[in-house]
Amino acid sequence: MKNWIRNILLLGGSISVLIVTPGCTTGLAQQWMQDSPAQAQEALMEATQEPEATPSPETTPWVGSKEMEAVVEQPQGPLSPSGKSYAYYDTVEPTYIDGVLLVNKEYALPSDYGDGADPEAYQALQQLQAGARWAGYSMPMLSGYRSFDYQDELYNDYVMADGRDLANTYSAWPGHSEHQTGLAFDVGRISMQFANTGAGQWLARHAHEYGFIIRYPAGKEDITGYQYEPWHIRYLGVDLATKVYESGLCLEEYLGVA
Ligand code: DAL
Ligand code: ZN
Repeated sequence: MKNWIRNILLLGGSISVLIVTPGCTTGLAQQWMQDSPAQAQEALMEATQEPEATPSPETTPWVGSKEMEAVVEQPQGPLSPSGKSYAYYDTVEPTYIDGVLLVNKEYALPSDYGDGADPEAYQALQQLQAGARWAGYSMPMLSGYRSFDYQDELYNDYVMADGRDLANTYSAWPGHSEHQTGLAFDVGRISMQFANTGAGQWLARHAHEYGFIIRYPAGKEDITGYQYEPWHIRYLGVDLATKVYESGLCLEEYLGVA
């Protein structure tokens, strides 16, 4: 073949290599197999190599936003008893359903939420205590507002004493206790027997008249996530507490999130 013809053919081959893209290299290489086996073999091997590793989103600001979101959602640092990172509780938002603050094993409070009993709830508690006294019962408050850190200590003490599985049936993880809302109180006596006492029965029948519900009723353990606690009351205001009481539903059921 004349030299000038060979040069034109070689130049054409080089231009083809330059325009090859990963998606079509194999097809072109197969085409070349017929023309120039060695060059085509090389192109085919290049096309079937593993793609280069995906660039790290941390170091590559132009990576797609979905990948960035996935990185943000990763737990960071030590884990809390809930299995979420403690860092999660720095930014989690309180959940309100129809204006009602809902705290349970699913819905959490941020670690800096609350600084004491809610004044309206505390006033209602004092009225309830007066009502109980008038009916002949003593209704001491045994536990009120608890901070995130205090609940963390308390829960871990219960785990040491009873093991995690049992503790989970009666003690909330930090960030998941209604006591952190300032709207919940333990009253009377912390004992299952309290339900059978005059004071416990009075509380079950009259708490709603003061704006409270028995938050963890018998028979609703699978929904609330906790054993029956005849002593734990949650303030909702008289109207809503009365509706929840008369419905026979637990709060999750009443709010439609059970
Ligand atoms: N005993 C309740 C569930 C709490 O620890 O908040
Ligand atoms: Zn309680």
